[in-house]
Amino acid sequence: MELPIFEPFKTKMVETVYKSSREQREQWIKDASFNLFNLKSDQVIIDLLTDSGTGAMSDRQWAAMMTGDESYAGASSYYNLKKAVTEITGFDFFLPAHQGRAAENVLFSALIKEGDLVPGNSHFDTTKGHIEFRKAIPVDCTVDIAMDFTAYYPFKGNVDLARLEDVLKSNPRGKIPCIIVTITNNTAGGQPVSMENIRGVSRLARKYDTSLFLDSARFAENAWFIKTREEGYPDKGIREIALEMFSYTDGMTMSSKKDAIVNMGGFTAYRDKELFRKASAYNIIYEGFITYGGMSGRDMNALAQGLYDGTDEEYLRSRIGQVAYLGSLLKEYGVPVLEPFGGHAVFIDAYSFLPLIPKEKFPGQVLAVELYIEGGIRSAEVGALMADRDPVTRENRFSGREMIRLALPRRVYSDNHMKYVAAAVNAVYERRKSINRGLKIKWEAPILRHFTVELERF
Ligand code: F0G
Repeated sequence: MELPIFEPFKTKMVETVYKSSREQREQWIKDASFNLFNLKSDQVIIDLLTDSGTGAMSDRQWAAMMTGDESYAGASSYYNLKKAVTEITGFDFFLPAHQGRAAENVLFSALIKEGDLVPGNSHFDTTKGHIEFRKAIPVDCTVDIAMDFTAYYPFKGNVDLARLEDVLKSNPRGKIPCIIVTITNNTAGGQPVSMENIRGVSRLARKYDTSLFLDSARFAENAWFIKTREEGYPDKGIREIALEMFSYTDGMTMSSKKDAIVNMGGFTAYRDKELFRKASAYNIIYEGFITYGGMSGRDMNALAQGLYDGTDEEYLRSRIGQVAYLGSLLKEYGVPVLEPFGGHAVFIDAYSFLPLIPKEKFPGQVLAVELYIEGGIRSAEVGALMADRDPVTRENRFSGREMIRLALPRRVYSDNHMKYVAAAVNAVYERRKSINRGLKIKWEAPILRHFTVELERF
């Protein structure tokens, strides 16, 4: 008989989970203008807003923090991190940054200019924000099957190579400074990109004289899916797979708050020394000197260890297993969930969950609000609010789908917490036919509006 698998860690320190009543939550969400980002964390029972920066560090990471070197230049912590980055990614040149979007800012300052196109799979919202802020255009070439909620396809995060080639072919050389492939594809549901696809994109990048960068926030989870789903990889190690993924590219941006399991941090890495030098100037302006770039020495030490923690196979098995566990509980209740389940989160289809709420009334956000009221669970809308307005027409970008995301922090919640979450989602599902009031915008920022938007019921 095979014994059950379990988390490859045990708990050394605990944090209180704050409970609250439904009446309190009704009031708090109204006070928060129906924007879950405005809630205080102690008004939340289970926080699935994001898996970013919310993970629990290991004893090794905490121990590494104690030996942080806070020298302005040339700190040993920087060299620890450099060694880890080179070992895990294969890149010789890297620049620390305070988080993922800062890394994007550094890379894009060196690469992107007004009028450029930046194709790839679905860009994350800050990536899109940084591209559009430079008056360049992100082009989403994700495979069509990604839009089908339940169709099984092992790599729903993939780039449609034919579509990408059309974009590359129909634009002058020099107008497309880079292709960005996001692994895993967060916006499409934490869906992985196959090795074959990365190789294919790389080939096209070379053919059309452009470069390929990976937005690598969840590269280890992507490697896990390659190992478990792609032919030729089951016997390879996660780190071996990660090295191969990066070997096809010119560099990467990293939000270390995800797969490197730190609370803050990021970096860019480069193959080309010239580009590294160019980006170094921006790193110094925006982030700090090239041997700390927005990070303290202790945080660089924790990140170095986190890169090893996050690429541990046993850890990934339990991590991705927990996401699948939550997904399968929801599926048993009949809740419309995106399949196959992603690496970091379970996504719920808000259109079919709340058929009485038309898209103009933001059904994703309505569902997120209802789930908060029901069980104190904070999720994130991945729909029209997040999609923002078209920068030219200023029209709302209603897409074919509207979701909420239940993102699981790493090494934080137990499977009992997952049972509670699933039961609360089910309770909302059972009363879905009585949910008929939508939301409208009272105030919004001109870019990345979902973080600060204020809404009211109507
Ligand atoms: N790229 C991807 C794929 C991301 O998911 C994120 C952040 C970033 C870049 C930006 O990194 O937050 O460190 O500046 N995603 C978080 C999320 C916020 O909730 O998915 P950051």
